[in-house]
Amino acid sequence: MSAGKKNTVIFISGRGSNMEQLIKASLSPNYPAKIIGIISNKPDAKGLEIAKAHNIKMAIISPKDFSGKKATDEAISKQLEQWNTDIICLAGYMRLLGKDFCKKWQGKIINIHPSLLPRYKGLDTHQRALEAGEIEHGCTVHFVTYEMDDGPNIGQVIVPIEIGDDAKALEKRVLKAEHHLYAWALEQVALDKIKF
Ligand code: GRF
Repeated sequence: MSAGKKNTVIFISGRGSNMEQLIKASLSPNYPAKIIGIISNKPDAKGLEIAKAHNIKMAIISPKDFSGKKATDEAISKQLEQWNTDIICLAGYMRLLGKDFCKKWQGKIINIHPSLLPRYKGLDTHQRALEAGEIEHGCTVHFVTYEMDDGPNIGQVIVPIEIGDDAKALEKRVLKAEHHLYAWALEQVALDKIKF
């Protein structure tokens, strides 16, 4: 931990809009987490440009460069240890982490998912919610366990589904809520107010 703040590393695979919001929140002097590094499994993840603009350390750890999941996960752990990581935020990280990794970092890894978990785990949550005729959708931040989109919830935001919504419109509305929820959730975890 540096100057009382929790060393936080964000994992991304793409756009990085949640990552960007966490970086912005962390710039506030009283925020209890400091974003000290970004890990991407994709060298061309758009979010890396944002991280670069903020002068945050980056590591690209691609499964292509290792002999299997275990070796990839071990390389990630090594990097996290080098950076003295306290908290890991998954933010659109589209790769499943192995059992050993999840156990090792249990209670320290959190994820954001665009649905009101346990409903709509996995992909295409907005389309599936619309097709099911839901009147509300939303997002969840939860502690990560080995099971995908599982683990104790930290917080949720309900987002109404409006008449005429398509998946794109709904995704946009949910994403706005994600950005607020994730900054709040990381704060709770960094302050030890919500524990695994
Ligand atoms: C978000 O909807 C997040 O909930 C999901 O993947 C998307 C990532 O978007 N896990 P971004 O990269 O943060 O913009």
